[in-house]
Amino acid sequence: MTGTPLDPRALRDAFGCFMTGVTVITTIGPDDRPLGFTANSFSSVSLDPPLLLVSIANSSINRAAFESAPGFAVNILAEGQKDVSATFARPVEDRFATVYWRKGPVGSPLIAGVSAWFDCTLEQAVAAGDHTILIGRIGGFEATPAPGLGYYRGAYVTPAQTAAQLPTGPDVVISAILEASGQILLVDDGQGGGLTLPTARVGREGVQTALAALIAATGLTAAPGSIYAVYEDVAQGRQHIAFRCAAETGRPARGAFVDLTAEGVAEVTDPAMRVMLERLADEARIGNYGIYFGTHEQGRVQRTGER
Ligand SMILES: Cc1cc2nc3c(=O)[nH]c(=O)nc-3n(C[C@H](O)[C@H](O)[C@H](O)COP(=O)(O)O)c2cc1C
Repeated sequence: MTGTPLDPRALRDAFGCFMTGVTVITTIGPDDRPLGFTANSFSSVSLDPPLLLVSIANSSINRAAFESAPGFAVNILAEGQKDVSATFARPVEDRFATVYWRKGPVGSPLIAGVSAWFDCTLEQAVAAGDHTILIGRIGGFEATPAPGLGYYRGAYVTPAQTAAQLPTGPDVVISAILEASGQILLVDDGQGGGLTLPTARVGREGVQTALAALIAATGLTAAPGSIYAVYEDVAQGRQHIAFRCAAETGRPARGAFVDLTAEGVAEVTDPAMRVMLERLADEARIGNYGIYFGTHEQGRVQRTGER
């Protein structure tokens, strides 16, 4: 392959073919004011020790401040935070004026409503071409079920768009994992005492509409969230798609919240669903989530940050 000549603009477009999340990197400047910029160069580096990286352009007015600060935070933006991304990518006088924020456990600003955050001490700053790689050691983090904002070929994309492209039809079944305060909603499976997630078949209305109707029928307020598992039930000839949805605690129209633990989901009748929920309970405990692709019996888990 001969490839494309190394024109920087063509190279930037080529980098853009890779879909990324969108983050705002923050720190406290020398004058005690919060600083931040939009970045999609974030990547996980190591679990032990827990390290991540982000690269900052050497032309950034904030580079010196980030290099000399004791640490920085990575705020992974939620799908509704395009305006936050735009604010932190523009030369705005006070980028923090339009967001709520607080200091994290390590001391850098955490923006309200994000999908996840990592608060880090600065482990190392490595010069790399026209950027500087900031390597952070994670001192605290939180991941919520809120779907993250994506960036692809210069435009924002959301998981809801991905859901719109999913297959539909009588052989597609969706379930909603409604999570609130470490618990999930389970309902009667209608087959003699067992439990199940709220589940519905998808018809011509499509996945998004079916999911919204499924959530509404539970009587709870919840945001339709990101896909957690896609698996095929070979025996029934159905494809299952499970969505994680952040719910407000409240009284469900039917069923009850149970602890998201192996014991809490033990009464789930469908083995594939039970195994999926046991995995979710495990991942919630250690804070490392993945998406399951496969069949009823075998599949693979793709870590959310995996390429
Ligand atoms: C989606 C997106 C991703 C970006 N990723 C990065 C990045 O990884 N590193 C970087 O230095 N700038 C990145 N930028 C550009 C900065 O956000 C932008 O240049 C900002 O104005 C820098 O501000 P500063 O000079 O005040 O630090 C990105 C911008 C957008 C919109």
